[in-house]
Amino acid sequence: MLSNHVPSLIGKYADPTFTPLEFKAMEWLDGFYQLEHLLATRQWAIKLAGSNATDALKFAALVHDSERFFPGGPTGTPQNGFDDPDYLIKHSIRSAEFVEEWLQTQNPEPDDVFKRRVRALVLRHEFGGNTEEDILQAADSLAFLSTFDWLVVDWIRRGSYTNAGAREKLDWTMTRIRPESALRLALPLYTEITAVLDNPGSFRMDLAERRALAGNWRLLTGECCQASLN
Ligand SMILES: [Fe+2]
Ligand SMILES: [Fe+2]
Repeated sequence: MLSNHVPSLIGKYADPTFTPLEFKAMEWLDGFYQLEHLLATRQWAIKLAGSNATDALKFAALVHDSERFFPGGPTGTPQNGFDDPDYLIKHSIRSAEFVEEWLQTQNPEPDDVFKRRVRALVLRHEFGGNTEEDILQAADSLAFLSTFDWLVVDWIRRGSYTNAGAREKLDWTMTRIRPESALRLALPLYTEITAVLDNPGSFRMDLAERRALAGNWRLLTGECCQASLN
């Protein structure tokens, strides 16, 4: 039940290096049920890149799927599978456009080098490319495996995907990972999340409440309750 999950989620993604721009981006996406996935992607990207994690990589990780928060986006169909370039390209471009427009409204507006790099990373997050772009793509995969057990169960219960279809998504999430270090981190997560698929009926969680928690950045970053955490 809810009460079992809240304590482990409070401050799970706390990070003293969040920039003012990142806090504003979280406010922009407040309530988006994929915010936890975005925060986890940022966290995995930092783990994979280590001291080479740039501000652009961290920021792109935090906003890479932003377009899904705004109605009217592209939709994939289960028949086309998860590795559907038509969908993935539209999704990547729409996210990059939303992010660029949002960055242009910020005061101070980030410089052109930062904006261009963020745009390129968001455009490449589903496909990878150079080392940093491969890291973002791998972090995205890791963050799916580490945060979305509840979503996979939700898909099956709602009938959006069959069990086999959900498994195909997890397999594709693994297959696309390129850096070896990321693959090693992903294997135990894949084992855990596929175990959930083996018996989705035994998954005890209020899915509507879990979805709301996943969109609560203040809780996830610990900003909600600094006093009680100290
Ligand atoms: Fe995406
Ligand atoms: Fe993602």
